[in-house]
Amino acid sequence: MGKIVAANWKMNLRRDAARALASSLAGQGRDLWLFPGFTLLETVRQATSGSSLKLGAQDVSPEVDGAFTGDISAEMLVDAGATMVLVGHSERRHSHGETSALLLRKLHRALAAGLAPLLCVGETLAQRQAGRAEKVVRDQLGLVKKLTPAAREQFCAVAYEPVWAIGTGQNATAAQAGAMHNLARAEMNTLGMGTVPLLYGGSVKPDNAGELLAVAGVDGLLVGGASLELESLQTIDDLAG
Ligand code: PGA
Repeated sequence: MGKIVAANWKMNLRRDAARALASSLAGQGRDLWLFPGFTLLETVRQATSGSSLKLGAQDVSPEVDGAFTGDISAEMLVDAGATMVLVGHSERRHSHGETSALLLRKLHRALAAGLAPLLCVGETLAQRQAGRAEKVVRDQLGLVKKLTPAAREQFCAVAYEPVWAIGTGQNATAAQAGAMHNLARAEMNTLGMGTVPLLYGGSVKPDNAGELLAVAGVDGLLVGGASLELESLQTIDDLAG
């Protein structure tokens, strides 16, 4: 079985471009996971309906439906056709100040609505330089201890994404990714998440995807910038088999 390729489109694309990209991928019978912006969910849902592509959202409100202007609830995401949601992406943790307490509430809401969370973890450059990378990742994974064992098995994946590698063009080396995947996998095994796939993310491109996919313990890739163009996404997906 091939490895997973998840496309995080972040705050990019318009409906026409999203439709074109999703339709091409669907037409080729690919089984990638797509995470478009909220306004593109319906467009991508239509373009991928009946295909083996899976649809996810990039964020979820920690609240149930109600007076929360600007928020999107887990139930709304399900209604829009999403089956997965990113939680804990570093751009939410760091640019939006999302704390682990908030992330836990988001996980609860997503799980209650039947969305499979994709939990992102990873250390900053300062944390790595201070020798704290492993502790940071272990602590971020440890958040799931507050969930039931059954809930932990409902995650679609965990992604190790070193913050210093995201959008910087500087991916982790195979050795760095391998070491952290070993640690994260061991931790996930003890947390009852032995069957949950562990992805690598951070400046994955067509020219480094093969090397990263070959790292033991890398079950797939979470791709940002390189997932916005059909050709590079196809190349990465071909490498993932
Ligand atoms: P990038 O983003 O591939 O553009 O570095 C990855 C991510 O943030 O998921």
